[in-house]
Amino acid sequence: MQYKNILVTGGAGFIGSNFIRFMLGKYSEIKIVNLDALTYAGNLENLKDLEENVNYKFVHGDICDEKLVNETIRNNPIDLIVNFAAESHVDRSVIDSSSFIQTNVVGIRVLLDAALENGKIRFHHISTDEVFGHLKADEQPFDELTPYNPRSPYSASKAASDHLARAYFYTHKLPITISNCSNNYGPYQFPEKLIPLVTTNLAENKKVPIYGTGENIRDWIHVDDHNRGVEMIIEKGIIGETYCLGGDTEKTNLEIIEKILEIMGKKKDQIEYIEDRKGHDLRYAIDFSKAKSELGWEPQIAFEKGLKETIEWYKNNPDWWQKIKSGEYQEYYKKQYGE
Ligand SMILES: NC(=O)c1ccc[n+]([C@@H]2O[C@H](COP(=O)([O-])OP(=O)(O)OC[C@H]3O[C@@H](n4cnc5c(N)ncnc54)[C@H](O)[C@@H]3O)[C@@H](O)[C@H]2O)c1
Repeated sequence: MQYKNILVTGGAGFIGSNFIRFMLGKYSEIKIVNLDALTYAGNLENLKDLEENVNYKFVHGDICDEKLVNETIRNNPIDLIVNFAAESHVDRSVIDSSSFIQTNVVGIRVLLDAALENGKIRFHHISTDEVFGHLKADEQPFDELTPYNPRSPYSASKAASDHLARAYFYTHKLPITISNCSNNYGPYQFPEKLIPLVTTNLAENKKVPIYGTGENIRDWIHVDDHNRGVEMIIEKGIIGETYCLGGDTEKTNLEIIEKILEIMGKKKDQIEYIEDRKGHDLRYAIDFSKAKSELGWEPQIAFEKGLKETIEWYKNNPDWWQKIKSGEYQEYYKKQYGE
């Protein structure tokens, strides 16, 4: 790895914590500083196994805090920033979008300026396929040339963040790359998202909610495949470029739920149909041929296998998600760090 001191923002969340574990497991010569505000989605228990690792450091703070961001970069001294920090749940953005604008737009501006002012630090921004809007059943998948057309406050804030990152490249020659990825699944995903929600509800013998008729289609990718793609972009990606990453696994929400019911040996009467999400995007799909031809990246974890292993992980780690569902996980930081 050509970078030695990496600042990961939002590393206490789902994808960021898996990224930190993956990178520290693969590279013994790197150091990672995790800057995370520990919002409801941040959970230091995701990184419990790394607490004693001398190459890992946690800094509690907000990416919008200009002073803290600059100090963290200078003190460590950072040569790569990977920005996972975000408000990430569409439903929450429908109810109140203010924190989405604050973190996803104002926050990245602070990070980009800090990268610029501290010697044009290499910057990778994690984004989503949702910035492209949604597709009809017969439309071609999104690729890097698809025009932006976000339809939720979440995706609009992520679109703004992508535009800002790209603008810092064109205006200031800041060495950025961006990845737009489809729906991730895997261990340590907050149980408000579809796969962990359904799995943990079924484990507790509760009903599983499904929006509308369950016909909405998402492309699913294992979090480890996503993070391997991020690593390859950091190592080999062309500065200023965007890469679309996808799992080549389009499924309706109903298909996902039925598959989980089958794997867990549960019956379809556990499904509860609820009123559809406002402005619910119909379909996302990703054409990742640029990442394949330029980086040699493609997803390696077959969906069926990845899903079974993920369900096993939630079944074997009830402590982790039960503490989240009860709210107890938010006490962990206070116990650990005495604040
Ligand atoms: N989950 C997916 O399927 C998916 C798909 C594509 C892209 N993404 C993107 O990947 C990134 C990570 O997603 P995730 O699912 O891990 O999210 P997550 O909600 O699990 O984690 C987000 C993390 O960011 C932290 N955070 C939030 N606001 C912050 C702030 N102001 N300062 C510092 N830290 C802050 C939270 O505490 C949390 O630890 C996001 O940018 C998201 O848009 C997610």
